[in-house]
Amino acid sequence: MISPGIIELHHDKHHAAYVKGANDTLDQLAEAREKEAWGSVNGLEKNLAFHLSGHILHSIHWHNMTGDGGGEKLEKDGVGELADAIAESFGSFAGFKAQLSKASATTQGSGWGVLAYEPLSGRLIVEQVYDHQGNVGQGSTPILVFDACYLQCRNQKVDFIEAMWEVVNW
Ligand SMILES: [Fe+2]
Repeated sequence: MISPGIIELHHDKHHAAYVKGANDTLDQLAEAREKEAWGSVNGLEKNLAFHLSGHILHSIHWHNMTGDGGGEKLEKDGVGELADAIAESFGSFAGFKAQLSKASATTQGSGWGVLAYEPLSGRLIVEQVYDHQGNVGQGSTPILVFDACYLQCRNQKVDFIEAMWEVVNW
């Protein structure tokens, strides 16, 4: 069970901070252009990637959860295209589930386990994202994202991942 407290904290404090961070960084970049002050451009571009990616991944995360979801639903109902694509790309639903769970649980620091669509090959891949923006293939589109829950879950990471599977909005 995912506790309402964790979600509330997460949504109100944590996600909101990324939105503010992205907007603040865009302001700072506008100022840098204005003043032609490029000394801080490395740091600003990195901050932009971090906050923007944090905002995007958390936005996807909220849509990935629903009260009447769950992994078995996909297996049972088949949900056509996605179930087929998972089977094709990972061999089986069980193999996919194990890979995404492991990738989510072993991310260091704040990060994500992500099911993504890779447009050149047209297949699905699992990515282990570091700090919201690192370790991803360019151009892949995140579809299902598991927050590695670094701050909120403390030592309950594995429980949180199990709980996420129960509420996946297929
Ligand atoms: Fe988070």
